[in-house]
Amino acid sequence: MTATGGDGSADTVPAATELAARARRILEDAWRAPGYTAPNAATYPWQWLWDSCFHAVVWAHVGDERGRLELEHALAGQADDGFVPHITYWSESPHASFWGRPAHSSITQPPMFGHAAAELARRGLLLDDHLLERCRAGLWHLLRDRARTPGGLVTLVHPWESGADDGPRWDHWCPGGFDLPTWYDVKGELVAAIERNPSGSPERNPAFEVGAAGFNALVAFNARELAPLVADDELAAEADALARSLDRCWDGDLETWVDDGPSRATSGRVRTLDALLPVLCTDDPARARRVLARAVDDGAYGGACGPAGVHRDEPVYAPDTYWRGPAWPQLTYLLWVGAGRAGCAAERAALSAMARRGAVRSGFAEHWHPDTGAPGGAAPQSWAALAAVMDSV
Ligand code: GLC
Repeated sequence: MTATGGDGSADTVPAATELAARARRILEDAWRAPGYTAPNAATYPWQWLWDSCFHAVVWAHVGDERGRLELEHALAGQADDGFVPHITYWSESPHASFWGRPAHSSITQPPMFGHAAAELARRGLLLDDHLLERCRAGLWHLLRDRARTPGGLVTLVHPWESGADDGPRWDHWCPGGFDLPTWYDVKGELVAAIERNPSGSPERNPAFEVGAAGFNALVAFNARELAPLVADDELAAEADALARSLDRCWDGDLETWVDDGPSRATSGRVRTLDALLPVLCTDDPARARRVLARAVDDGAYGGACGPAGVHRDEPVYAPDTYWRGPAWPQLTYLLWVGAGRAGCAAERAALSAMARRGAVRSGFAEHWHPDTGAPGGAAPQSWAALAAVMDSV
């Protein structure tokens, strides 16, 4: 496929199938004992929860059974109440005193294991009951034990739980407006403010009571993906209820879902790409189509290697700055899945082309410039291999 890049240059974008060998090589190189893929060998040597779920999808796509092992290990640190820590160190943790645990973190990340399990099953990989039960317990923990916002959304206890660490939706909590050193200190203080149950699992944070649209969409979507695999109708019903609460947070003027909680009237309205993830679970197909059209529109989020992580008209849009504007392969992948669900074939093809172009131009980086594909963060980053999964059909 030949296309014109945002910088005006013509380039050739390999088909997703042609990227499979490269994707496999990236994952092979990052494979670590006892059985997980490091996001990046130097910058991110440990196991991260949502990264591993995406890696499992790629492993399955390239026909390798290691995805199952990776998923099992991502859930290995699960507590009896279902809580899943977002980092597993698999060696001596340099952050044990920070987290108050010897080998894991003590917050979570988006529960992408529902989708990963469903995707593995769709590709014919058998998952044992024990693993499926762990996935189920992980989702029920979030749905049952986490504090809710007044509008019924599941709260985060820390910005890191969203996966979108420095995103502008959290600026409400950065005194004086976003500034990196201040935000670094705030993130540390927010860990200390988390309230936990007697076994140490996080339940609420009075200093950060946000019902994030993106995170809640992923909870509802993953619960819906998993429910049929474990024949849990109650889980499906809970996911439906959460999707309805989320749809009440829609703002038609901004064309985004707004976060619930104290930031509702402030930074919770900034148009970020992760806030469009309710396309994965909304019961309003017209809304999903409208949002997906914006995601690929270069007057909104779109770009040759996009979509951008923040709407281009937002004053905070900074395409070279971590979580404040670059394109992220895992978010593009999720919108691509959403486009399939919404029957938006043209948008799905466009998202796929953007991801493939960006992955190739950036050297499969952690994130990249939505127009030029200039790399940002670590490279190669294992989740960029998702570009090989995004076939436009
Ligand atoms: C960064 C990202 C987070 C990711 C981690 C490992 O912290 O913000 O989403 O899980 O890196 O790739």
